[in-house]
Amino acid sequence: MNRESDHYKKRGVDYEVPPFMPTLPRKYYQSESIYQEELEKIFYRRWIMACREEEIAEPRQYLTIPVGDESVIVTRGDDGRIYGHFNVCRHRGTRICDKERGRFESDSIKCPYHAWRYDLSGALQVAPLMKEGAGFQKSDFHLFPVHIGLWGGFVFINLSEEPVLFEEELAPLIGKFEAWGLQNLRIAHELNYTLNCNWKIILQNYQECYHCPGVHPLLSKWTPFRGAVHDCIKGAVIGGHMELRDQVGGMTMDGGPAGPPLCNVTGDDLKRVHYYSVFPNLLLSPHPDFVLYHRIRSEGINRIRNDCFFLLHPDSIRDAERMDRFQSAVKFWDMTNREDWKVCEQMQLGLKSRRFKHGRYSEQEDILYALDREVLTALGHEDGY
Ligand code: FES
Ligand SMILES: [Fe+2]
Repeated sequence: MNRESDHYKKRGVDYEVPPFMPTLPRKYYQSESIYQEELEKIFYRRWIMACREEEIAEPRQYLTIPVGDESVIVTRGDDGRIYGHFNVCRHRGTRICDKERGRFESDSIKCPYHAWRYDLSGALQVAPLMKEGAGFQKSDFHLFPVHIGLWGGFVFINLSEEPVLFEEELAPLIGKFEAWGLQNLRIAHELNYTLNCNWKIILQNYQECYHCPGVHPLLSKWTPFRGAVHDCIKGAVIGGHMELRDQVGGMTMDGGPAGPPLCNVTGDDLKRVHYYSVFPNLLLSPHPDFVLYHRIRSEGINRIRNDCFFLLHPDSIRDAERMDRFQSAVKFWDMTNREDWKVCEQMQLGLKSRRFKHGRYSEQEDILYALDREVLTALGHEDGY
């Protein structure tokens, strides 16, 4: 590694950065037991991006969010508050909601088996024929709560009983994108993908542009692949930005802007595309003219569901002409995404080979070493190489 160690120290890196950075060993993509450990130590402990607040805008609307083997109900109470509950009945452990989204008919959540009913905050209201007394108090049978964190219109959940502070985990992002007015943006478009690769591969792919010249000819025309500037290289939030070339106005099929700049975006940000990953399941890209994000759901060691969303100001969404032009950004990113997914899936396939133990990162990929360290630290495998 040629960069001064100062480069890392200034960004809070407290480990020794080796001159040649090894990639994550093959077993981290192939071992079922490591995958189970990842579920326990990462997905059931860290903050997971669940949805946008607008997806449960009205009281009683709910979503069920799969996280590994768990399912979480995220809903809005009649009091306007957002609640998270494990989707499991306290009577005999039945999964309560089996739909991906819906609206509770009354202000209660009813188990389909023996009709125990909980209010939207999770308190048990009715347990038919069960008398309260010694051995049974309804107040002891609250739905298991899931912690909720809100930032910029995003709803995060944390399944751990004692989560790390949300504000600490997301500290580098809080206040960073005020100019975009994230809270007020709405979903303008959604693309859904299923990929046959491990969840870490898509995070890695997102954070480096070493692959851009070969994999993304059009993207490389709009942003020079060596122009990535990373300001966060340690912790849950990792990333930085890339500059648009002179004369390029946006990430669209023709390189023109997809629409007017969002809210108060000005100055350097009019020429920048930001790329941040929020470990382990949100990839966030504020552009000058829209915000793109990926919500990743790991469905197994070599399978993920990735939903890709575009956010715009509601005024633009109501403007048919603007939405028409905006399709150029959707088309550009759908094409670029598919170019990425292809190499991500090929990497997963190649990693089946017993001959491959691990490789070496290029200087353009030092941020991936940081990302891998985040995984290893979370697993308690600091010596995983
Ligand atoms: S398992 Fe839910 S009411 Fe019996
Ligand atoms: Fe890519």
